[in-house]
Amino acid sequence: MSQPSPEAPAPAKPKVILGVGGGIAAYKACELLRRFTESGHDVRVIPTAAALRFVGAPTWEALSGHPVSAEVWDSVHEVPHVRLGQEADLVVVAPATADLLAKAAHGQADDLLTSTLLTARCPVVFAPAMHTEMWDHPATRDNVATLRRRGALVLDPAVGRLTGKDTGPGRLPEPAALFDAAEAVLRRGGPIPEDLAGLRVVVSAGGTREPLDPVRYLGNRSSGLQGYALAAAAAARGAEVTLVSANVALPDPAGAKVVRVGTALELREAVRAAAADAQVVVMSAAVADFRPAEYAPAKIKKSDDSSAPVVTLVQNPHVLKELGRERLAPGQTVVGFAAETGDAEHGFLELGRRKVAAYGVDLLVVNEVGADKVFGSPVTEAVIIGADGTETAVPLGAKRALADALWDRVTLLRRGTGQ
Ligand code: CTP
Repeated sequence: MSQPSPEAPAPAKPKVILGVGGGIAAYKACELLRRFTESGHDVRVIPTAAALRFVGAPTWEALSGHPVSAEVWDSVHEVPHVRLGQEADLVVVAPATADLLAKAAHGQADDLLTSTLLTARCPVVFAPAMHTEMWDHPATRDNVATLRRRGALVLDPAVGRLTGKDTGPGRLPEPAALFDAAEAVLRRGGPIPEDLAGLRVVVSAGGTREPLDPVRYLGNRSSGLQGYALAAAAAARGAEVTLVSANVALPDPAGAKVVRVGTALELREAVRAAAADAQVVVMSAAVADFRPAEYAPAKIKKSDDSSAPVVTLVQNPHVLKELGRERLAPGQTVVGFAAETGDAEHGFLELGRRKVAAYGVDLLVVNEVGADKVFGSPVTEAVIIGADGTETAVPLGAKRALADALWDRVTLLRRGTGQ
């Protein structure tokens, strides 16, 4: 591979504008800013005056390395209210308050952030955070619909504890999830297509744990990264997503409804309930094939004669095979995952092709596993095998890239069959 010449200029850093609205979640934007700067983005922070009451300008200046102002009256000779928006590659507004969404939807420009939003021609991502009543109000719903119609990505807020004792939709998604969503928009170089709008999808992620006694379980090393990337990508592309999550320590993906489960049987129940009216089900969870036949309600103790207890296992239902066979909703697309090493007679792809038929799935994502392919890795490569014989190789890259490639494949498949 040719080396860049010493004189070659370093590639320009993507220019990101982080707009911060006046909500308590402004503190979470500090972590988002760090993620952007540490991954090589040049970030200008534009808070509103209200945001500066929550987190002060020195914090934003120290973390971004740039001066910070909320007003159009500072550095007037540089015309920042026009220049910043024109030069940006991406604008992310987090948290976006109800007031800020209203101003953006109506084209108001009474401070530096709203003026920048009017001059920006790059993709814009809004991450709303507010009380549930404000989010549900028809005025806010209309403003969000207007912004989405114009091509902005408006993430759905996360569900959970709000500022006071109340809980519900309105939380700012965690910085890691916001960063992933914004990065995906930058990578695509434009607004994410809402090509999955109107689809209800179910994604299972993580690894199930089968309890042996109150402190022990049989589990596996699945990190849930791939399933979470699938859920985040589908939500960003407009799908209504239910993520059935088994023992995953990752922030909830923006815009997905998360149902937490522990065991294979719980996962089966949650997936089937959500799949009853879903158009697509993707089983990316590592589901335990076996569980202990009996659960010991008290901790199993060592015996004095150093004999070890014998654990009898029973087989769990194969959720994917059931979904492939039963098709819980008409025209449902069923997608499985398989990790194959290949054996003496068969390559890993050959084993994958057999599973497509044996499991009755529409698509199977086959990963070749080996000593160097570790669980929890942020990168992956795979081949997506279709029941129609098509095979799409997805080269080594981010799990989000495989997620988008799979949703592209699902979209094509559903279009082809008129579903
Ligand atoms: N799966 C499932 N229910 C199970 C086990 C697995 O739904 N009890 C699903 C997984 O979510 C995944 C696919 O089936 O989509 C994995 O296929 P499978 O052949 O069971 O597992 P592998 O571990 O990949 O292969 P093998 O058992 O052949 O080693």
